[in-house]
Amino acid sequence: MISLQRGFHSICVCYLRDICPILKDPKALAAVTDLFEEHVRRSYPQVDLVVGLDARGFLFGPLLAQRLGVGFAPIRKKGKLPGPTLSVSYSLEYAKAEAEMQEDAVSAGQKVLIVDDLLATGGTLHAACELIKQQKAEVLACLVVIELKYLNGSEKLQSTPVFSLIQY
Ligand code: PRP
Ligand code: MG
Repeated sequence: MISLQRGFHSICVCYLRDICPILKDPKALAAVTDLFEEHVRRSYPQVDLVVGLDARGFLFGPLLAQRLGVGFAPIRKKGKLPGPTLSVSYSLEYAKAEAEMQEDAVSAGQKVLIVDDLLATGGTLHAACELIKQQKAEVLACLVVIELKYLNGSEKLQSTPVFSLIQY
C-alpha cells in the first residue's frame, strides 16, 4: 500500500493501478485535485484549457478545470466525438489505437494541461500531445495520478513535463 499525505488528507491506493479506491473516498478525490491544483498554480500560472483523455482522464480532468476556472476538452477514442475532428494513431501494448479531438476544441497559442489517470508506456499521452500540437497550441504539462516509472513512459514525452502523484 502506498500513502500520500497532504494535510489531513491521505490517499491510499490499495491495488496496483486501481484508481477506484480514490474515487470512492471523497477526501482522497479532493486531495488529488488539491495536489494537482497546487502544482499548476505554482508552476503554470497561465492555463487556458484542461484536456482529459478517454476514459479515465475524464474522472480527474474536469475537477481540475473547475478549480482553475478554465474549460475542459475531451480527447476520445475513435468515432465517439460529433463534428469535424482531428485524429492521431498510436500504439498500445498489444494493438493500434486512434485518438480524436474536435477541430475547434483548442485554439492556436492556447496553453494546455493534459490529465489522465495513469502513465504507463507513454503512448497515450504522447498521442494526446501530438493532437494538441497539430492545433498549434502549447502543452504545458501532463498530469497523472499514477506513473509506472519502470516503463519509462516520461521519456517518450521528451521535453513535456510530467507531474505524477503516485509512482511505482
Ligand atoms: C489506460 C490508462 C491510460 C493509458 C496508459 O487507458 O487509463 O490512459 O492506458 O497507457 P500508456 O501510457 O501505455 O499509453 P486505456 O485506454 O487502457 O483504458 P481507459 O479507456 O479505461 O482509460
Ligand atoms: Mg486511459
